[in-house]
Amino acid sequence: MAIQIAKAMGLEVNGICSSANIHLVRKLGAQKVFDYNEHSCSEIDTTYDVVLDTVGSTKHFEMRKHLNTGGRHVYLKCDLPQIFLALATRFSSKRVKTGISPDKREDLEFIKGMAEERQLCPVVDRIFEFSEIAEAHAYVDQGHKVGSVLISID
Ligand SMILES: NC(=O)c1ccc[n+]([C@@H]2O[C@H](COP(=O)([O-])OP(=O)(O)OC[C@H]3O[C@@H](n4cnc5c(N)ncnc54)[C@H](OP(=O)(O)O)[C@@H]3O)[C@@H](O)[C@H]2O)c1
Repeated sequence: MAIQIAKAMGLEVNGICSSANIHLVRKLGAQKVFDYNEHSCSEIDTTYDVVLDTVGSTKHFEMRKHLNTGGRHVYLKCDLPQIFLALATRFSSKRVKTGISPDKREDLEFIKGMAEERQLCPVVDRIFEFSEIAEAHAYVDQGHKVGSVLISID
């Protein structure tokens, strides 16, 4: 979703993922895609305005050299270490941002508009029946789902 939203906003996006997901990440709009088994984020020789870490695998003090002045290192994972980094860097020119999505109405309207204009295409990994909810949780907990896991409620 993040790649598609950034592309729709006219931004240039590069991605890092496993080899299995390179084709998908490219198809979603990333220009350059790196395999994390071949390159660690800190080896990539480019600077960015935003580094978005969806799984909490990057270390802020390694990523600072990849941020432009005024750039942001955004963690979707929002546990104590990320909250501490956000507080520790709040007056820095290269800040960490984290937090729980507030699901504001205007943001959801923006996403809805993108979907209606076919700028946003959800990636669905698997659909489970409601009776399989425990298996669905176990599958998600493995940390390898690609996109969303849906629960079907009749
Ligand atoms: N802040 C908020 O409001 C908010 C809201 C929702 C979710 N979250 C958080 O966001 C995080 C991500 O959630 P998610 O739903 O996307 O599911 P997830 O199950 O944590 O992520 C799975 C995906 O990440 C890939 N991945 C794993 N390690 C990676 C690495 N080092 N580099 C690149 N890709 C990697 C996996 O691919 P491979 O298996 O091929 O590696 C898989 O495609 C979680 O920590 C969740 O708690 C935060």
